[in-house]
Amino acid sequence: GVIRSYNFTISRGSIAPDGYQRDVILINGQFPGPAIEANWGDVIQVTVNNQITGPEEGTALHWHGFLQKETPWFDGVPSVGQCPIAPRSSFTYQFRASLYGTTWYHSHYSAQYSGGLLGPLIVHGPKNANYDIDLGPVFLTDWYHTEYFKLVEEIMKPLQSGGNPRPASDNNLINGKMNFDCSTVAAGDPTPCTDGAGISKFKFTTGKTHRLRLINAGSEGLQRFSIDGHNMTVIANDFVPIEPYTTEVVTLGIGQRTDVLVTATAGNSQSAWWMRSNISTACSKANQPNALAAIYYDKADTTKAPTSIAWNVPDPGTCANDNLSLTVPYFPISAATPSTTRTMVIDYIINATDNFLWRLDGTSARVDYNDPVLLLAEQGNLTFPDEWNVKNFGTNTTVRVVVNNPSPASHPMHLHGHNMQILSEGDGNWDGSTIVNANNPQRRDVQLVRANGHFVMQYDLDNPGVWPFHCHIAWHVSGGLYANFMERPADIGKDKNIPMVMKQTCTDWVKYTNAD
Ligand code: C2O
Repeated sequence: GVIRSYNFTISRGSIAPDGYQRDVILINGQFPGPAIEANWGDVIQVTVNNQITGPEEGTALHWHGFLQKETPWFDGVPSVGQCPIAPRSSFTYQFRASLYGTTWYHSHYSAQYSGGLLGPLIVHGPKNANYDIDLGPVFLTDWYHTEYFKLVEEIMKPLQSGGNPRPASDNNLINGKMNFDCSTVAAGDPTPCTDGAGISKFKFTTGKTHRLRLINAGSEGLQRFSIDGHNMTVIANDFVPIEPYTTEVVTLGIGQRTDVLVTATAGNSQSAWWMRSNISTACSKANQPNALAAIYYDKADTTKAPTSIAWNVPDPGTCANDNLSLTVPYFPISAATPSTTRTMVIDYIINATDNFLWRLDGTSARVDYNDPVLLLAEQGNLTFPDEWNVKNFGTNTTVRVVVNNPSPASHPMHLHGHNMQILSEGDGNWDGSTIVNANNPQRRDVQLVRANGHFVMQYDLDNPGVWPFHCHIAWHVSGGLYANFMERPADIGKDKNIPMVMKQTCTDWVKYTNAD
């Protein structure tokens, strides 16, 4: 493959994507950040120039869903594979586009991505399905008018002094656009706000089949995506092509992607339709705003708003991805017999100082940006503070993880470095035996575990490294719902040259030392 090179300059800025002006952190001045495109097998090279000043902040970019088999230290997680990129310095990532399909990249430094540091990433590969037109990313982001570090402060505060473990978003954007009703701005808020900022517009060619790449790149909200009058054919979940099936609504937890095909045969060439992405009221903080975009057939008047009616599909309120029996990978891989099975519980505590903390397997993780775990492990240091929540799976060949979630919230659980095989998912604790499609289970890199439910996943330990396993809700991972899954530590970096730049000592100016 060839090398696809990008230069990212990251700096503070002020934007009003929905009309309400706010301070953000931008890549090359853009929100969402520039789209990265490559072909399967190419090397993606991104030079990040950190110009976040006034005040200074570190950063690190994570390339969500890639395996990083040759380069675990370029996974972009400060506290794991690298020091944060210090202000006024630059750092070059270089990694293989090992999988193809739709993903995104985002800052993995605190909840910084919620402040604008994110963008779509597409890897072209075999089509595995027939369509005419690739419409590219449909980038869904719940949107907060408050800066991310203020929200992190809010979730970390003791409850009695205004702590709020689940801040509410102010809007929901499609490809960085949505209107906002400025009359709802709190009295006394002097922030400039303009009504009618505008929505995203998509074009459908009458009679043709279009591929849409849905990405939930938000901070909290579970998205329920639909297009009035049109069914969608699901062809991939995350980086995994699946046997096509048809649906009216696609459910996406944070971090998840679903590629769909939509055929423009619902109306005549002058018709126009709403695209909707609703934040599930049952599965997210209640009453957060929904997103709209417009779809125009080729001869439609693009100055007029569509008048179409939404599908009558009520929110099922189960906070789950589509049934596992529906989601069958296009290329089968059967589930091996696990060499170890671990059960981990998701719960929360309110500690002695009245802080609300999420726990995974009994630990609310705190990480250390100055001592990256992977680099310590590569040097043979395998003793870590308990609060880093390191699970050393050693030389196991296949690990099965049963996640029981007796908590009242659903969680999009993400594993780095692997596609998880999702063996079971449902209400209550796992019964110890139910497995769906053992010969070809659904695989993906983020799976929703429902409130008061469970999911069971496993993966083969073919990728020595330290791979975060965490809830992708920004406010939950910041609240400690995080673990480091260590895999074959003796083999980390073996037969590979760890670049010298990785071996620097991290500078000690880091401000936010929460779990992510
Ligand atoms: Cu999308 Cu740990 O990341």
